[in-house]
Amino acid sequence: MGMNFHDEKNKHSYVTRQADDTWLRVVKTLIQDRAITKAVDIGTGGGIYAKALADIDIPSITGIDFSRAMVNAARQNCSSYKQIKFQLGNAYCTGLPDGYTDFVLERALIHHLDDLTSCFSEAHRILKQDGMLLVQDRTPEDCLLKGDCHHIRGYLFTLFPHLAEIETKRRYASPIVKTELKKAGFRSIKEMKLWEIRETYTNKKLLLNDIKSRNGRSILHDLSDQQVLLFADHVNQSIQDGPIIEKDPWTIWLATK
Ligand SMILES: C[S@@+](CC[C@H](N)C(=O)[O-])C[C@H]1O[C@@H](n2cnc3c(N)ncnc32)[C@H](O)[C@@H]1O
Repeated sequence: MGMNFHDEKNKHSYVTRQADDTWLRVVKTLIQDRAITKAVDIGTGGGIYAKALADIDIPSITGIDFSRAMVNAARQNCSSYKQIKFQLGNAYCTGLPDGYTDFVLERALIHHLDDLTSCFSEAHRILKQDGMLLVQDRTPEDCLLKGDCHHIRGYLFTLFPHLAEIETKRRYASPIVKTELKKAGFRSIKEMKLWEIRETYTNKKLLLNDIKSRNGRSILHDLSDQQVLLFADHVNQSIQDGPIIEKDPWTIWLATK
């Protein structure tokens, strides 16, 4: 089934969170030696990370998404941020000029794409010389880590082994990402791991409600309503009540034009 990003029903799926402080700190450190005046966030969703880039003092940010519903939601979500603008565009063809930006962010985008070569070539085209691309996604290994009181998604694969197959197919292994970055012309390619806090819930009920609404978790769109309820019940049985800090394991690839 998969998530339909163009469906108005899903437009708030990527606006309800805020980027976690760990993410802000890590990205700020990674870019600290660069004078970034313009950044582009491709596959921006509801603009959560466009906002985060503004919060680390990047003066001008363009969020690009191929879904009109997402772009509208992002505009609403970021209406108080004058330094951010959003426009419709595809990761393969953003509509931005050559050498437009110093920094491109592609977070949780590439597992939705089947042509990494075109995606990375487009990022390379819109970057200035020496500009930086930051790709953040989960590899199959990241996804299949076991569930615990922080890694809630991990429980999905115990309960629904068929999802492990879907997840493994749609996620790119790190060597493929690096090869494609190189092919697109990037150099100084580095890889790092990040456990990012996805959300902090004051109690279990709030987490379970979030799961039931499929908020920000596109994989839950591969389950029926009844299976989502089963998953919520499984999480309920597996973890204790109290504040829950949900974290996800990510891989970050940094590359320079
Ligand atoms: C999982 S969401 C991630 C949103 C945001 N980057 C985040 O990390 O919260 C993926 C986003 O990529 C967008 N997307 C998927 N394929 C795309 C494409 N070919 N071009 C542009 N955007 C795309 C979707 O509409 C969706 O908003």
